[in-house]
Amino acid sequence: MYKKKIDMSRLPKHIAFIMDGNGRWAQARGQQRSYGHIAGADTLEATLRCATKLGIPYVTFYAFSTENWNRPQSEVNTLLDLMLKHLEENIFMNNDVKFLLIGDLENMPDNLRNASIQLMDKTKNNKAITMAVAFNYSSRWELAYVTRQIADEVKRGELNINDISAETIDSHMATRTMPNPDLLIRTGGEQRLSNFLLWQTAYSELYFTDTYWPDFDDECLYKAIVDYQGRQRRFGKTGEQVSEENK
Ligand code: IPE
Ligand code: IPE
Ligand code: MG
Repeated sequence: MYKKKIDMSRLPKHIAFIMDGNGRWAQARGQQRSYGHIAGADTLEATLRCATKLGIPYVTFYAFSTENWNRPQSEVNTLLDLMLKHLEENIFMNNDVKFLLIGDLENMPDNLRNASIQLMDKTKNNKAITMAVAFNYSSRWELAYVTRQIADEVKRGELNINDISAETIDSHMATRTMPNPDLLIRTGGEQRLSNFLLWQTAYSELYFTDTYWPDFDDECLYKAIVDYQGRQRRFGKTGEQVSEENK
């Protein structure tokens, strides 16, 4: 229904997803939270396929935040196991998907770090779509990490303090090979960023839906894109200026 309304010449180049609501989706069915995470992983794959078919070049999925380590150990284990299982699947090579892990790779179980690095290497020449997964990620971790790197370059005399600009910061971020998200979608009803891409979403269009992540289907994605295309992105200018430019 919504697919026909999409203007294919104005697709977002990068859509970021906060996949929220797995636990509540499962509990509403009288199931364990883990059941929701397993269903959520299937939704991730379906969303990736749908975005690839549409021709969206970049997608980012928030899969595990640095704060999520504070969940019950059994739930954390389920999330780690699921991530590892999905890193070993053929979906990436079969669908020409370039995989990128953004997150704190240093403080991650060895098997996950190794599998992530291997998959990034194996898929580095894939072209259909770039899929970033934010795992053991938080914006505040990323910004602290980038600050340390920049400070180190200054200390070593490779960078002049006065040359530090927004571009310098961009070029050190985990997301440096991708454009900033045009559209950020959060499922599950909460209207917050939960420490996700705070720097990169400065001018993203935000879309919140009550739909729990396991119920988020192709139609929901089309609907979000149609909503996005109905907005006027002004980047500080007036509406009249932007209308004039787009004539
Ligand atoms: C999102 O679903 C998945 C992760 C945070 C890993 P939740 O597990 O947060 O689901 P709710 O918000 O409790 O329903
Ligand atoms: C955000 O969801 C993190 C991920 C989707 C991975 P949470 O469910 O952890 O966020 P809060 O705690 O409700 O803000
Ligand atoms: Mg949640």
